[in-house]
Amino acid sequence: MVYRDEKLSEEKVFKDPVHRYVHVRDRVIWDLIGTAEFQRLRRIKQLGTSYLTFHGAEHSRFNHSLGVYEIVRRIIENFKDRDNWDHEERLLCLCAALLHDLGHGPFSHSFEKVFKLDHEDFTQQILLGDTEVNAILKKVAPDFAKDVADVINKTYENKLVVSLISSQIDADRMDYLQRDAYFTGVSYGHFDMERILRVMRPMEDQVVVKESGMHAVEDYIMSRYQMYWQVYFHPVTRSAEVILSKILHRAKVLYEEGYTFKLKPIHFLSFFAGQPTLKEYLALDEAVTLYYFQMWMQEEDPILSDLCDRFVNRRLFKYIEFNPNSQMNEWMELYKLFSKAGLDPDYYLVVDSSSDLPYDFYRPGEEGERLPIHLLQPSQELKELSRLSEIVESISGKKRTDHKLYIPLDRLEEMSQRSKTKKRIMEILYG
Ligand code: NI
Repeated sequence: MVYRDEKLSEEKVFKDPVHRYVHVRDRVIWDLIGTAEFQRLRRIKQLGTSYLTFHGAEHSRFNHSLGVYEIVRRIIENFKDRDNWDHEERLLCLCAALLHDLGHGPFSHSFEKVFKLDHEDFTQQILLGDTEVNAILKKVAPDFAKDVADVINKTYENKLVVSLISSQIDADRMDYLQRDAYFTGVSYGHFDMERILRVMRPMEDQVVVKESGMHAVEDYIMSRYQMYWQVYFHPVTRSAEVILSKILHRAKVLYEEGYTFKLKPIHFLSFFAGQPTLKEYLALDEAVTLYYFQMWMQEEDPILSDLCDRFVNRRLFKYIEFNPNSQMNEWMELYKLFSKAGLDPDYYLVVDSSSDLPYDFYRPGEEGERLPIHLLQPSQELKELSRLSEIVESISGKKRTDHKLYIPLDRLEEMSQRSKTKKRIMEILYG
């Protein structure tokens, strides 16, 4: 039997708290799970710094990737006997689902921002470069690795396949919403996925949902909306992220200034230079990163050691509402006052803004050009979701932004009560 069609003699199952079981029968999938690059995802948390806010949120990208695979497996199972569905694409869909987040690095968000990296870029490199994953994909067919890379990159010609992995109602989102809700313990994020899977239908170039499933889809959209504001953009999580970014920034500056580290940042050097090779990128996971942070608590540099201590021991920055666009004068005054108080404002006075677009209908030519969710009416006509659902209509296309100012309030409080600088800072911050 050719490798592509090989089945395991017995089905393997992974216990999963969200989907109960993840089923694997294909030899290719089993082999991919066993690669070093896929196993590495165990050492990258799905939600970055969120565990400092929600202590349960320690789940990894490994968990999530298996979950996305399982959802796609079930969707395809339902598609089996339908016209419009090319069963030849099955293995491709499963591989793309399993491998879609392969390039995520430690604390992706902050790392990407500070070092100007792109995890999607690394996903492509892992799929196409000299890796264990690539060796397995090549065994399926010479072009297979490229096809998987194209599906994940959304450039694959069969858009129906692409929409299973990335669209506004795809397996990726359906998994992370439920998984993140489960592990954070919040009561948002739940929706009836079984129902949605039952009413999904393959159309020429997209997955659509039967109109009778509209309320389940509404629930899914609202749960996404709530998860963003209650979990993903939680201000405490962002505080930890701010500190993390500043640690990376400080280490880079010190290195460039020729500072002598007690623990030299060997694993970070290529990141500081902005060009890590694939091997260097894969070598830096969260365990390694946290090891450095813990060691750097002993560094002579007071900023680096303080920031690392804050991260490791969870002494986070406090936050207040602050809009940098309308409060420019306050910002400039605070900047000067912080310098005067001996708190380097580049590290201790930080504005963070988060924004989300909960659901968007198609507006050609606009940023992102998100594909809309289409409902299939009994007449076989397609209608865009927000035209049928008032609930979705009320939040669609509406971008909401939240600005916060982060500061080490403990350090300000330590200052003498008689300090005029302190008095003025407190006045601006708290009125
Ligand atoms: Ni994902």
